[in-house]
Amino acid sequence: MAILVTGGAGYIGSIVSEALLEDGQAVVVLDNLSHGHAAAIPAGAKFVRGDVGDGEALDALFRQDRITGVIHLAAYIEVGESMRDPGKYLDNNFARPLALLAAMRRHGVRDFVLSSTAAVYGMPDATPIEENAPTRPINAYGSSKLMLETALAWQTRSHGLRYAALRYFNAAGATAERGERHQPESHLVPLVLEAAAGERPEIAIFGQDYATPDGTCIRDYIHVRDLAAAHLIALRRLREEPAPAPPEDAAAPSPPDLAARAYNLGNGRGFSVREVIAAAERVCGKKIPVRLAPRRPGDAPRLVAASAKMLAAGWRPQHTGLEEIIASAWRWKRSHAAHERPRS
Ligand code: UFG
Repeated sequence: MAILVTGGAGYIGSIVSEALLEDGQAVVVLDNLSHGHAAAIPAGAKFVRGDVGDGEALDALFRQDRITGVIHLAAYIEVGESMRDPGKYLDNNFARPLALLAAMRRHGVRDFVLSSTAAVYGMPDATPIEENAPTRPINAYGSSKLMLETALAWQTRSHGLRYAALRYFNAAGATAERGERHQPESHLVPLVLEAAAGERPEIAIFGQDYATPDGTCIRDYIHVRDLAAAHLIALRRLREEPAPAPPEDAAAPSPPDLAARAYNLGNGRGFSVREVIAAAERVCGKKIPVRLAPRRPGDAPRLVAASAKMLAAGWRPQHTGLEEIIASAWRWKRSHAAHERPRS
């Protein structure tokens, strides 16, 4: 018996796998390595190289490894690219995972935890953002995740699937062995640390005239280890969920309620781009050169999570300080080359 982690060679997926293994759960990682790193997959996990859209491969995997639950993280994550090529995002993040849901149904697997995103909210009317805030994504990435949430809601109603959609805010930080390394890199914290390490000449600040105290965008940074812990809680709660309610009264149909199964994941505190750079300067003990650049299209001025729902479910984030989060990423960055090991 094992938990299937799709995208388990990626930044967050590898750390979710690490947390599951530490909890004593067997893990099968499914990843096509289009972006992930085989070396990031924990040694205790079984690795299957493949795609979530490949029904035959999924059948073999579900049968051989007796999968009891799925944590689905495999997805493209570049907001900018999603605007240039929306079809690529809708295919990979929405259409292909439908094959995974079909395989779950064939094999009687009912528990599904989705890696979703704050991007489903678009430009929120108010912060902190609660799960029942309007979902109006302003990029194809956010739409692709919201479409998959919608598919899950229908499968829950019709087929008794049980799912939780974890809407991540800004994941950052590292464990001793695993950290953030995207190709290409577009995320603020790793880019700031590259500038601190002299690997890039400076960090660009995208926009200085937002309606925020220092004019730069505000985000809610969450330690990736705390984020991973939330997946284990979500999975446990799904297992404890009672049998699905009987089909609703056909005379009074209602649309699926996506908020009911969504959990926002952040620390409830926002930090501006300038505050992140200042915190990184304190952590690294050096001045980080900045360049003032125009706004980046699609950036909301302020995204801060109301995470009361996951806290009520028993989540206890351990690493909530911005400097602590950045320090863990800095430690990993300086040591990770030594931890890399080949994996077939
Ligand atoms: N930023 C800069 N300079 C950079 C990179 C980023 O100023 O070189 C700014 C961005 O404009 C933004 C903030 O830093 O204001 C954070 O940017 P990130 O790219 O690190 O993160 P985002 O908030 O854009 O994206 C995150 C996730 C996405 C998810 C989104 C939801 O990484 O996957 O939140 O809104 F879609």
